[in-house]
Amino acid sequence: MLSPRPCVRLGPLTTLGVGGDASFVVDATDEANVLAAFRWAKERGLPVRVLGGGSNVVVADGGFDGLVVRMLTRGRTFTASDGELVLTAAAGEPWDELVAEAVRREAQGLECLSGIPGLTGATPIQNVGAYGQEVAETITSVRVLERDTLATRVLDAAACRFAYRDSFFKSEAPERYVVLGVTFRLRLRAVPSVRYGELAQKLASDGGEPTLARVRELVLALRRGKSMVLDANDENGRSCGSFFVNPVVTSERALAVEALAGEAHMPRYPQPDGSVKLAAGWLIERAGFTKGTRRGAVGLSTKHALAIVAHEGARAADVVAFAREIQRTVREELGVELTPEPVFWGI
Ligand code: EPU
Repeated sequence: MLSPRPCVRLGPLTTLGVGGDASFVVDATDEANVLAAFRWAKERGLPVRVLGGGSNVVVADGGFDGLVVRMLTRGRTFTASDGELVLTAAAGEPWDELVAEAVRREAQGLECLSGIPGLTGATPIQNVGAYGQEVAETITSVRVLERDTLATRVLDAAACRFAYRDSFFKSEAPERYVVLGVTFRLRLRAVPSVRYGELAQKLASDGGEPTLARVRELVLALRRGKSMVLDANDENGRSCGSFFVNPVVTSERALAVEALAGEAHMPRYPQPDGSVKLAAGWLIERAGFTKGTRRGAVGLSTKHALAIVAHEGARAADVVAFAREIQRTVREELGVELTPEPVFWGI
């Protein structure tokens, strides 16, 4: 029997910890619950939002007038053959536990994605990536529920249209599907993929074997150093990770930005199509927002200028006002438009 709870505060269900109430919240621990929840909302004419780990969402102070379905479905299967491990996980599987298990099974492909908060079902939506790896490299298919028809479908990787922090689910049809499960193809006993400079240096200076387990440990240490691992005792803990995506600009624009910043050696990542990805955190600092900059109860992380932190008493409106101030200043000072990375509910 489905029993949605009325008037539930959404802040505590997100890592940023701000925002008002949902009219109803239901914990969906199996797929039958997910379907029942959508039917329940349809009968009452209520809109539905799906919440995973809440690590990439900013909820408005006014909350959400509808039903929030918390995806808490569990279950994983592992099938090994021909040097590969095919791994299928339910949307509600905690992401880092899945990465840890893949590493334990010596399956390569997810190790650099260690320590990322949230649940597995969220990873295809924005093509989660870190330290030179992204889920698009290993996802083979995504099982979804079509909201309109409540039919399930399986989309192959091509249909997901993955790009940098983007997919079909995020930008082309944001309300069409709910992710139910994700299948990854990993390589067994392969050498770790190390493309990120700081990580490669650490591994080399270690002198030891570059095993998957070692890469995982180093990634976790790097993330902790930047307050990018969930930790209740961390002063930068209440955030939703990177608040903006790294902007991709033409090579001419990149040179102009460097000149405006008045500093050589601007971090830049040339893309295969000739465009250049810039580091949003670096731009934010050059626009005058040093790490730890405060605006009342909100501020930048003291470890990473790309994360906005909500301190005691912060409201969603404070977070949004600060984010807008950063966007405006970076636009005026450096001529670059920053696009927010989290999902906004009711803002
Ligand atoms: N930088 C600064 N100041 C800062 C932060 C960064 O100058 O405060 C410079 C760094 O020195 C470096 C460059 O910016 O040269 C890039 O920084 P970093 O390697 O920390 O990565 P990022 O581009 O800021 C991205 C992802 C993170 C991911 C890291 C590590 C995006 C939007 N963010 O950040 O993902 O963990 O790379 O691979 O792509 C997230 O999406 O929520 C997230 C945390």
